Amino acid sequence: MTSDIPTFPIPRAHPFQPPELNAKLLRENPTTEVRLFDGSKAWLITKHKDICEALDDPALSADRRAPGYPEIHAGGAKAKEAIPTFVNIDEPDHSRQRSMLDDAFDRPAVDKMRPMMQAVVDKVLNQMVRKYNDNGKQPIDLIEEFASPVPTQIIYNLLGIPQKDVERLSKDSDVRTGTSRDAAERANEKLNEYIGGLVEERVKEPKDDLVSKLVKEQYNKGNLSRDEVVTLSFLVLTAGNAALTNSIGMGVMTLLDHPDQLDEFKEDSHTLAPQVVNELLRFNTASALNSRRATKEDVEIGGKRITKGSGVICAVQAGDRDPDKTPHPDKFDIHRKYAKEDLLAFGYGPHRCQAEYLSRVQLEIAFTSLLKKLPNLKMATRVEDLEHTPATQNMGPLNLPVTLD
Ligand code: HEM
Repeated sequence: MTSDIPTFPIPRAHPFQPPELNAKLLRENPTTEVRLFDGSKAWLITKHKDICEALDDPALSADRRAPGYPEIHAGGAKAKEAIPTFVNIDEPDHSRQRSMLDDAFDRPAVDKMRPMMQAVVDKVLNQMVRKYNDNGKQPIDLIEEFASPVPTQIIYNLLGIPQKDVERLSKDSDVRTGTSRDAAERANEKLNEYIGGLVEERVKEPKDDLVSKLVKEQYNKGNLSRDEVVTLSFLVLTAGNAALTNSIGMGVMTLLDHPDQLDEFKEDSHTLAPQVVNELLRFNTASALNSRRATKEDVEIGGKRITKGSGVICAVQAGDRDPDKTPHPDKFDIHRKYAKEDLLAFGYGPHRCQAEYLSRVQLEIAFTSLLKKLPNLKMATRVEDLEHTPATQNMGPLNLPVTLD
């Protein structure tokens, strides 16, 4: 096998920074072929404008079963066998299914959830502080105690999972990263079974939660089968947790690494929160591997002809640092003027993240509350000593020991 072209995922020389090769590709070869784990090839798109065009092009399929769809590790074959959700189907079925969840994630629905999100963040923060004090103020892991439980508990509340089950199930969600694929699969099976039981309960007695909404509006009207309700609920449960955990972990590291901007943020956190979150998402793009497609016909992207049945990987992490879009892209700057739609961290086009607003609000509440309660938060170890996700997963720390005062 020739090694003339880069492998994808591109190894990260620094585990918490995008691969250095991204900048070189953006300069010299923005649409380029890469080699995948199984020896096959795919096209990697790095320029912001080309990524937007590609992700908006109906000639590109999000269906994992489409010929050429680029898998990035051996586990991907299993995903092809699962019942696809709208994440991995094309129009018109994509829009039909996605719209079933639209009003659960729109602005009014998310704004209504703000008190619930604040309550979860406050509770988790209080528990962390208590544990820290009880342990004689030894460094405490911010991922385990904050970045992971906050998004998990919020999504459990949204789905309507009873409080008594939340802690037990959260432990299963913790196997999201860093553990063996077998352990993750077993945990997923357990969660799936649990959701199956919850759907049965809500069929008998609907409540005011997302699972009940799907039961009342879709299952009872014959639009979705019981299994499809389970699959969609499971999607909501798992779709964004790792991205949020990584975004909180990377966000805290980035802010601590820029003390002047951190101080400014602390002083006026209410006003600055939206732009700080946007810049953190741009700078880190902890969702670098999600936007993959297969060509349904011959297309041209970034001046290159890509034949039908080819894999296309939209390197949103590179696009978020394209100097033609963002001057001095490697500089973290909370004062950038950047239109929210231009951020690629949530993808682009019809498959753009449905929970973007929910995620933005959640991150705003998480960062502002954390820094308000713990203004003296500090890292208790060197960045080089942190465990991190492998290149086949989105970028993030697996542990983040901190002191709180
Ligand atoms: C910081 C947090 C998050 C980031 C960075 C993120 C990122 C992304 C990206 C890049 C995509 C596009 C994938 C593609 O192009 O194929 C996407 C789609 C999606 N995300 Fe998120 N996500 C986040 C949180 C969430 C959460 C919390 C949920 C669920 C509650 C969620 C649900 C979805 C769904 C359902 C889609 C598929 C939309 C479609 O195919 O129409 N995401 N997300």
